[in-house]
Amino acid sequence: MQITRKIAETHTALGDLRSGNRRVGLVPTMGALHAGHVSLVRAARAQCDLVAVSIFVNPTQFGPNEDFEKYPRTWDADCAMLEREQVDLLFAPTPEEMYPKGASTFIEVADLSDRLDGASRPGHFRGVATVVAKLFQIIRPERAYFGQKDAAQVAVLRRMVRDLNFDLDLVVCPIVRESDGLALSSRNRYLSPLERKQALVLIRALRRIEELAPHGIADSSQLVREALAIFAEEPDVRVDYCRIVDPDTLQDVADTGAEALAAVAAFVGTTRLIDNALLPPSAAH
Ligand code: PAJ
Repeated sequence: MQITRKIAETHTALGDLRSGNRRVGLVPTMGALHAGHVSLVRAARAQCDLVAVSIFVNPTQFGPNEDFEKYPRTWDADCAMLEREQVDLLFAPTPEEMYPKGASTFIEVADLSDRLDGASRPGHFRGVATVVAKLFQIIRPERAYFGQKDAAQVAVLRRMVRDLNFDLDLVVCPIVRESDGLALSSRNRYLSPLERKQALVLIRALRRIEELAPHGIADSSQLVREALAIFAEEPDVRVDYCRIVDPDTLQDVADTGAEALAAVAAFVGTTRLIDNALLPPSAAH
């Protein structure tokens, strides 16, 4: 696996690797890799000739009071994992390489960026869209892999790819979970053993919605009320949002007649966790 830190060096490495029209799959990450990230790498490995992974804890997507400084950085373990998965190129730039002094161009996916996590984390999706657009420009992948775990991120990036005519396929992979249902997240390592148990309320709330939706309950506000009743079983967990939305526009839907996304975010202690479930169309009928 070739490791590059500089953009120019990355272009040279890719120029060499790419010879003969080989198709590049890109997996953008912030490191602290787990089985969710590995699932994206494996999908890329299966579908592309060359696999590039980026590790970059992107400062522009963190708010001033968020966990940028303490975000887990596990470089050696990450490299070992990517070597095992036969990744061809690891691009791990510094913040100065990605945002040189005077960098002042940002990508704003209007409206979508202010919904769900964007509402709770102002500026977050502007940072995500900007860094992902830059990674697309630097690596020029034919395919780019993202997790359904971050459903709002998927909606924002899909829209960006469409609106800016990026010539690539965005591939979305299913959520990887622990055996008890907790969605894997780099932030799970912040949880104390007690919080780890409390965190299961997110999946319990989503499962309640998934159970009820096919049994004639299509009314979103009723489904949300049922989910909030589950959250109430863990009074130490503070719900940030619990909504049923259109997966493309992230706007609330009144019922689950068409495909809908049940999305939750909650603070378990000081750790903010997110999870979601796609509800198939006509689940209520
Ligand atoms: P990060 O949180 O490191 O996630 C990298 C990718 O892994 C994202 O596409 C995310 O959805 C996916 N992922 C995380 N947990 C997953 C799980 N349990 N199952 C399946 N996929 C999972 O998301 C980011 O980084 C950043 O915002 C980034 C896109 C890299 C831009 O900085």
